[in-house]
Amino acid sequence: MKISRLSPIGIFDSGIGGLIIAKEIKIQMPNEYFIYFGDTKNMPYGEKSKNFIIKNSIKIASFLYKKKCKALVIACNSISSNALDVIYKKFHKKILIFNVIDPIVKNKILFSSKKIGIIATPATIRSNFYIKKIKKYHHHLDVIQISTPLLAPIIEKGFEIKKINFLIKNYLNYFKSIDTLLLACTHYLFLKQQIENFYHGQVHLIDIQKIVVEEIKKKLNEKKLLCLHSPYKKFPIFYTSSYLPTFFEKKVRIIFGKKALIKTHVFNLF
Ligand code: DGL
Repeated sequence: MKISRLSPIGIFDSGIGGLIIAKEIKIQMPNEYFIYFGDTKNMPYGEKSKNFIIKNSIKIASFLYKKKCKALVIACNSISSNALDVIYKKFHKKILIFNVIDPIVKNKILFSSKKIGIIATPATIRSNFYIKKIKKYHHHLDVIQISTPLLAPIIEKGFEIKKINFLIKNYLNYFKSIDTLLLACTHYLFLKQQIENFYHGQVHLIDIQKIVVEEIKKKLNEKKLLCLHSPYKKFPIFYTSSYLPTFFEKKVRIIFGKKALIKTHVFNLF
């Protein structure tokens, strides 16, 4: 399959979390055209088994591959931590593959931390992926992780600030003495401001989307696949696997404007 600098980037998540990564792609690589898939029918992935996550993410990856994408961005920690090796095996000879965990755990930004807290979905915590990787690259780091299962589904539906602040307080009270917190679920990136308020700026929150997209840009450039200028303006396409959820649409419109195309793709049909 012929791919070029003008081919789209395929981005996927269970829902709105990956929109933060897509937004950062728009900021750092404004000429890139992308296709997004949110598996809203099966959200939350954090509650699903490893097998389920593998099966479904392979379907989505194949769907995006058939759309002639030049790269796949797994914009979901639950998928990255449970299905990365399977997706990689199946696609790495055909297409570039990026995930939201490797650029973070390998980053020198962690050198200056001593004690790091990780909040993530049950599926990500259960995989132990972060602990294994952080221990490999940063022996000095003390790591504590907890699963915060109520957050992603609430964020997906459009959260009330009061309710979310209550949850944040309850979950983060567990982390008293950390110096850095890793929001290890892309949905949580929508809560950055609330979490910063909770810690009064005393705990460092890593700029996940920035680091992940810098890595994507660097690799695309190395492979001569970075789109430096586009002869025509193409608006991104957003697929959801269930009848279009209102909050998803609202977020897409706020971030990407009126011209972004939103479509429903029923999962069982491909
Ligand atoms: N955004 C996803 C993640 O980064 C998962 C949310 C969910 O579906 O549970 O893990």
